[in-house]
Amino acid sequence: MPQIVIISPSIRKGRNSHRVALYFADLIKENNLAEAEILDLLKYNFPLFTERLKYLDSPAPGMIHFAEKINSADGVIIICPEYNGGYPASLKNAVDLLTSEWRRKPVAFVNVSDGHFAGSQVIIPIQFSLWKLGALTIPATLRLPDISTTFDEDGTPADKAAMNKRASALIHELLWYIEAKSRMSE
Ligand SMILES: Cc1cc2nc3c(=O)[nH]c(=O)nc-3n(C[C@H](O)[C@H](O)[C@H](O)COP(=O)(O)O)c2cc1C
Repeated sequence: MPQIVIISPSIRKGRNSHRVALYFADLIKENNLAEAEILDLLKYNFPLFTERLKYLDSPAPGMIHFAEKINSADGVIIICPEYNGGYPASLKNAVDLLTSEWRRKPVAFVNVSDGHFAGSQVIIPIQFSLWKLGALTIPATLRLPDISTTFDEDGTPADKAAMNKRASALIHELLWYIEAKSRMSE
């Protein structure tokens, strides 16, 4: 079964986007679509970026674990909140840490915001960064507005049927890229 890791980037007090990470992990597991694991940047608590992992003499705790998780994953979903039109520094910290681990990695984005505009502008910076690193950034995206009211703290959506339909479409698109890549490796 494919292994999908879900990056939950927000380290903000009272964060909302983690709800969406919980939801995606549950949806993938409930429907037996893949193995799913959340990589929570709040738990990793990485220091501010000083250099890429491969050049660090003494990596901070969790850095090697994070790199191995990205490296071994068949696909990645990034739950990306929008902060002033960009993506959170915590995510930039983690993206820049790695190099070859991202190469040809199928990556899907879920843009989220607690406003009405659903993080519609953050797709450009986050997708561009991953593209620069050689990831297979998939064109399909999902934009979710008002996440503090459309998901509860456990990640249950207010309208589960409608959300499942939209989220499943994104996951299946990611699985298509995972399958396509695996055929290239046969
Ligand atoms: C520093 C900062 C900047 C923000 N900028 C935007 C923005 O540009 N567009 C937007 O739709 N929401 C913006 N928001 C609102 C966030 O979408 C909302 O706080 C969301 O819950 C952020 O995810 P988090 O709670 O997981 O940190 C901003 C929030 C913060 C804290």
